[in-house]
Amino acid sequence: MSAALAIAFQHQPVLLSEVLKLVEASGPRLILDGTLGGAGHAAAMLDALPEAKLVGIDRDPEALDAARARLDRFSDRVTLVHASFSEASRVLADLGIAQVDATLVDLGVSSHQFDTADRGFSFRFDAPLDMRMDTTRGMTAFELIDTTDEEDLANLIFQLGEERQSRRIARAVKADLPRTTGALAELVKRVAPAPRDAIHPATRTFQALRMAVNDELGELDKYLAQLPDLLADGGMGMVITFHSLEDRAVKHFFREHGTKRRHVSKYKAAATSAASPITSAAGVFMEVANETASNAEVASNPRARSARLRAVRRSPRST
Ligand SMILES: C[S@@+](CC[C@H](N)C(=O)[O-])C[C@H]1O[C@@H](n2cnc3c(N)ncnc32)[C@H](O)[C@@H]1O
Repeated sequence: MSAALAIAFQHQPVLLSEVLKLVEASGPRLILDGTLGGAGHAAAMLDALPEAKLVGIDRDPEALDAARARLDRFSDRVTLVHASFSEASRVLADLGIAQVDATLVDLGVSSHQFDTADRGFSFRFDAPLDMRMDTTRGMTAFELIDTTDEEDLANLIFQLGEERQSRRIARAVKADLPRTTGALAELVKRVAPAPRDAIHPATRTFQALRMAVNDELGELDKYLAQLPDLLADGGMGMVITFHSLEDRAVKHFFREHGTKRRHVSKYKAAATSAASPITSAAGVFMEVANETASNAEVASNPRARSARLRAVRRSPRST
């Protein structure tokens, strides 16, 4: 792939200085980037750590081509694989890798995906309702609305899009079955106008469909479940989220597997037949970062507004 492709694939990595600070402090020798995208984080980490190697995953073949062009100068320090990050364990096993020293997933869509008209992610262009990150498999957004019943569609738009007019929108979508981004955006605007809203009335519906088409929360759950085994002792897991449901899933998972001693209420203690309140130390992860973007970053990159970076260090396995 040409350098022109790398240039055309524009994506400004969010929370980059925070990620670099973490990796520079821990000096990983092998990194897994589960969401290569335009390879902004990946290239910066490889530049900052000249001894490090990186395995990069993306489910979008176009992203992978762009990343390959951008990371060409690192030659054999980089291995790229077309896969979902929910397949990370299998990908590493196929490469003969037992564990890595650091992992990064930077969730959501890339600017390139969002800005490419025919991918169907944005109502700024009229295009078939696709929205798949992995264009080689899975249901398109049109197939999803065609095969989901009205009530489930309303629930999905409500939960993933936090759209209060979800029932009205789902009813109209099932009646009209819009095939393009333009038709869907017009339909939402017609049945659920939001004149005082700063954002386009279809924004939340598009977000919900995109998250459903790509099973974004399911992917995250499957990835998190593998993380304790993916990381070597002392290894660092970094996750950048953009949606409150994503952040909640990450926060709960890290807490549930955290090394922080948790107080267990006397009611729970009684239920477990302990005589008095107890503490438990489940013990896989220690939180090392929980950060949002600076005002300066948000000013230069509005996408960073809702971003949150959480990072944990894996405790040593007991022998
Ligand atoms: C926000 S972008 C990542 C940008 C990247 N960190 C950079 O600096 O350029 C998200 C990327 O992750 C990919 N992606 C999202 N979910 C994925 C998943 N479950 N498995 C693999 N790749 C995924 C998308 O295709 C997209 O290219």
